[in-house]
Amino acid sequence: MRYFLLSYALIIIAVVSVAGLRGSHSRKPPLEVFPDMDRQNKLRPQADNDFFGSGRTSQPYVAGTIARGTAYQDIPVNTGRVTGTTNFVASIPVAISESLLERGRERYDINCSPCHGGTGDGKGITTQYGMVAVANFHDPRLVKMAAGEIFNTITHGKNLMGAYGANIDIPDRWAVVAYVRALQRARLAVGDEVPENERAALQQ
Ligand code: HEC
Repeated sequence: MRYFLLSYALIIIAVVSVAGLRGSHSRKPPLEVFPDMDRQNKLRPQADNDFFGSGRTSQPYVAGTIARGTAYQDIPVNTGRVTGTTNFVASIPVAISESLLERGRERYDINCSPCHGGTGDGKGITTQYGMVAVANFHDPRLVKMAAGEIFNTITHGKNLMGAYGANIDIPDRWAVVAYVRALQRARLAVGDEVPENERAALQQ
């Protein structure tokens, strides 16, 4: 019993001395059990700094810096729209080359084919797992769709489709648009367009 009373008293003293003084003001530095990162080397804005030639801590922006979230320069390549309007550009505003299409095929297969399917028919693997109403690129509405609008859909998404702008940079988005056009064209082609020497292989 004696030990109990003694330890009881000690615990009360310990609790009061730690918790009881919380919030009281003192000019003495606090007892710091875990300093965490209370003090660390850092540069304060507006402070002097002889590291930089200008003697300032805050440095001016690098030329060409744009604020996060502000639009890029308003040109079709960046926006998919005719400069100064909200109209989509009808055709792809970059030069089409075989390497662009190859790049587009690669990016398409990675980013789009899981939903839209390897041929663009909207029957990608995700449709077997509950993804509904995936657009079919061979739908005449999408065949006629302005290239800028497809670009815009990649950038910002549309209805059920999420945005892919963060995953696919601008040149690659146009490459994907070009590849989507190639998929559409492939299905619209007629027999006469196949080079003569390859027709036999098709007819088999
Ligand atoms: C996670 C699945 C998914 C992925 C990945 C995906 N899409 Fe889609 N996409 C959809 C769905 C679903 C729709 C139909 C959206 C709606 O109208 O509700 C759609 C619609 C579209 C449309 C038609 C938009 C319209 O105006 O009707 C285009 C064009 C398109 N996608 C292009 C792409 C391209 C290009 C990629 C690859 C960069 C891509 N999508 C990746 C699911 C996806």
